[in-house]
Amino acid sequence: MFLRHYRHLPHTVRKMYWDIATKGIDSRWRLSQHDYGVLTRVVEMYRPSRVLDIGCGTGRLFPLLQSKGISVIVGLDVSRRAIEMARARHKGVLLVQCSLEDLSLPESSFDLILSNRVLQNLPPSLIDTIISKLCRLSPLIYINELTESDGLDTRGSGFKHDYKRIFSRLGYEVDAYGLIRAPASPGFQTYYVFRHRNAGGRSTVRAPELLLS
Ligand SMILES: C[S@@+](CC[C@H](N)C(=O)[O-])C[C@H]1O[C@@H](n2cnc3c(N)ncnc32)[C@H](O)[C@@H]1O
Repeated sequence: MFLRHYRHLPHTVRKMYWDIATKGIDSRWRLSQHDYGVLTRVVEMYRPSRVLDIGCGTGRLFPLLQSKGISVIVGLDVSRRAIEMARARHKGVLLVQCSLEDLSLPESSFDLILSNRVLQNLPPSLIDTIISKLCRLSPLIYINELTESDGLDTRGSGFKHDYKRIFSRLGYEVDAYGLIRAPASPGFQTYYVFRHRNAGGRSTVRAPELLLS
């Protein structure tokens, strides 16, 4: 019932919601590595030195990023509880408790931003503004968010946004994409790597990869 009204909740209440939800998300997903194969390839392909993991939660992706020798790893999450748990578990990661709505960092601070199941939680009224904010920070943005391929109904806190349209308007192209099988999900997750048109490096769009768990 509460989730049905998520899109109409004020920002302060949405923040409280994520604090309460942290424990459940952590117990369900903490040990999941269903996307590690794809993310390993993404990191090896682009070789970033500075990575921002937005909506990092309790830091599920940090061991992978650290194993790849990335020198600067920053995790950001709106949930204070998630940031505290991440801080207790992972050393050597800079952790910031902040919402995407309030985010303000210097331009071009990162080589790669990761967003795993986070942008889907922003209501349609905010998504364009938040993505344009992220685009000022990094020429490469990996997203894995709710799409048709998931086979899930849009829940109260999950929105299907038109990422290709939004990123294209901001000068970004799809540089890689594919599907990931997630545990106990009916369909597949779809990931994209969006890359700014003027960014150096590779520019070949990859064929979709089907990764089964
Ligand atoms: C489904 S969890 C995904 C956690 C992590 N990315 C992972 O893959 O394991 C969504 C996370 O996004 C965070 N989040 C949701 N809305 C946010 C916002 N507006 N700003 C920052 N973080 C947000 C939540 O607190 C939560 O930790």
